[in-house]
Amino acid sequence: MKICVYPGSFDPLTQGHVDVLRHAAELFDKVYISVLNNGAKHPVFTTEERVEMIRIAVAAEKIPNVRVDSFNGLLVDYAHCVGAGYLIRGLRAITDFEYEFQMDALNRRLASDIQTVYFMASPEHSFLSSSAVREIGSFGGDINGLVPESIKNTIAERLAKP
Ligand code: PNS
Repeated sequence: MKICVYPGSFDPLTQGHVDVLRHAAELFDKVYISVLNNGAKHPVFTTEERVEMIRIAVAAEKIPNVRVDSFNGLLVDYAHCVGAGYLIRGLRAITDFEYEFQMDALNRRLASDIQTVYFMASPEHSFLSSSAVREIGSFGGDINGLVPESIKNTIAERLAKP
């Protein structure tokens, strides 16, 4: 059985993430989409909120073979725990490459049995990021189409709070 982990901050989940998740679910038997539970990054949404929103979106979008989870500590340790041999990452522009290149090298050094698979973002999502959603939402801007419809209102209401 081919198992992968799609890790991230998902603060919050965007349509770009959903697009990558769909492709991963097509290729793998089981996909763990897993939220990094790390206070150091000072996320706007709590880990529980992010996990719950991903659960709602995955159910609404009817993406099969997906488990929603969170993790602490090293990603490769978590991947070993759930029996995953692959990590999933999305790439938007060349600016993502440097960070991903470094992370790939470190993860390979830590666990040579785990490979990372990259999906290029669709052109319509190449500009999209969680931080852009947070910024637009915090000023009351329209986030329609940027995040899954099923969690759009929750995200907008939460971001609009002072
Ligand atoms: O969505 P993000 O913030 O780009 O995701 C980054 C993430 C969660 C994949 C990365 O920070 C991570 O794997 N953190 C866990 C700690 C770890 O394993 N570090 C070593 C490799 S950089």
